[in-house]
Amino acid sequence: MLKKGEKIVLKIDKIVYGGEGLGFYNDLAVFVPMSVPGDVLEVEVISLKKNYARALIHKIIKPSEDRVEDHSKVSFEDFHGCDFAMLKYEKQLAYKKEMVREVIEKIGKTTNFILHETIGAEKPLYYRNKVIEPFAKNKGRIISGFYKRRSHEVFEVSENHLQSKLANKVIRELKKELNKASISVYNEHTHSGILRHVMVRTNSKNEAMLVLIIKGKLKKELEDVIKKTVGICPEIKSAYISINNRRTNFALGEKNILILGEPTISEEMFGISFNMSPNSFFQINLEQTKKLYGKAIEYFGEIQNKNIVDAYSGTGTIAMILSEKAKKVYGIELVEAASRDAIKTAEQNNIKNTEFINGKVEEKLIELIDSGEKIDGIIFDPPRKGIESSVLTKVAEINLNEIVYISCNPSTFARDVGILESHGYYLKEVQPVDMFPQTSHIELVGKIVKK
Ligand SMILES: C[S@@+](CC[C@H](N)C(=O)[O-])C[C@H]1O[C@@H](n2cnc3c(N)ncnc32)[C@H](O)[C@@H]1O
Repeated sequence: MLKKGEKIVLKIDKIVYGGEGLGFYNDLAVFVPMSVPGDVLEVEVISLKKNYARALIHKIIKPSEDRVEDHSKVSFEDFHGCDFAMLKYEKQLAYKKEMVREVIEKIGKTTNFILHETIGAEKPLYYRNKVIEPFAKNKGRIISGFYKRRSHEVFEVSENHLQSKLANKVIRELKKELNKASISVYNEHTHSGILRHVMVRTNSKNEAMLVLIIKGKLKKELEDVIKKTVGICPEIKSAYISINNRRTNFALGEKNILILGEPTISEEMFGISFNMSPNSFFQINLEQTKKLYGKAIEYFGEIQNKNIVDAYSGTGTIAMILSEKAKKVYGIELVEAASRDAIKTAEQNNIKNTEFINGKVEEKLIELIDSGEKIDGIIFDPPRKGIESSVLTKVAEINLNEIVYISCNPSTFARDVGILESHGYYLKEVQPVDMFPQTSHIELVGKIVKK
């Protein structure tokens, strides 16, 4: 009988959906984070259930050919918080494709679709345009960084390899000023202390938005820290303090106070300039977003003279790109600030054939359909939890030729495809796009058509 704490030798057979490696020890499934098919490992069992165990790599006995050259690293922390960085980049793409296949077949119960190779990134490092890091205190110093796996303990790295170099610089300089001013750090257990998170957004013009998220009230010493940081980093074009007095894991606060500069920074995509405020959603990898949206638009076929709905429209990126050709595009989005950003962007770009509706897709899309408005196509880009089944049932009633579905969570995508299949549609094609290199996160776009 295997015991917790025991060290065993394990060969890894495959990577399962979620990103962990799987091997078998006397028929018992053992899941090992940061492991690669073909690895022979000495692992330490950290938890034991009836049907499976979890273990951490203790030593690499024989590395898989798919592993990166540096075999001295074994853990999430060693790889700067990236759970796929132990894989060669082309292998990350191949495993993501296989994970997509597996999850759609298993959950969506469909096999007869075209699955394309994952579209990879030319820049698989320093690609993120938004980062949020929690603060912590370590040996008397204010630090920020990543949470260790399955914990709330923060570890700091000298440079975050995923976020832009500018964001690295801004956070480094901010921490120097915070340490000089000796501000207290928030403690989630006692709900006391001030500094909670830092968020930085950057754009391709090398400009930044800094948001310092705190508990408590706006104080002059905090404003001074922000002003000094902006003095050292003139790339910061917008700086906020966000007040979050709630007991929550959600970083951004209920009130964002502009301290310096403009309320938004902007990003250019498909010739359109988009505004981003602290809490509006914007895809975090610009290069890959262009490829993803390009594919999504291609999946629509002819949209001239058609009315299209962009459901879960965020700052209206997809709606505005589609508006170039479509007759009219409706964007439906829950977050008010994002809807406002979308309206502002449309005005600034002189786009007249979009309408942004603020509210839940579950309500507003159904109202739009019930109003008798002609809808020729819908693109969905929901959050991780996917689309409510009532929405899919309603959409199936209006006889669309095609539905385009962008997803950052293949398992809810597969579930939703299953629902649409039961209403006379089928999944024709799936294109995974690697929006999150070095991590096991997967983004895809699917084309669902009428049977
Ligand atoms: C994955 S993002 C897509 C955003 C957009 N397509 C873009 O690229 O900017 C999902 C969006 O859905 C919004 N959202 C979440 N739940 C919603 C709901 N029930 N109804 C409408 N929008 C919702 C979120 O605020 C977020 O902006």
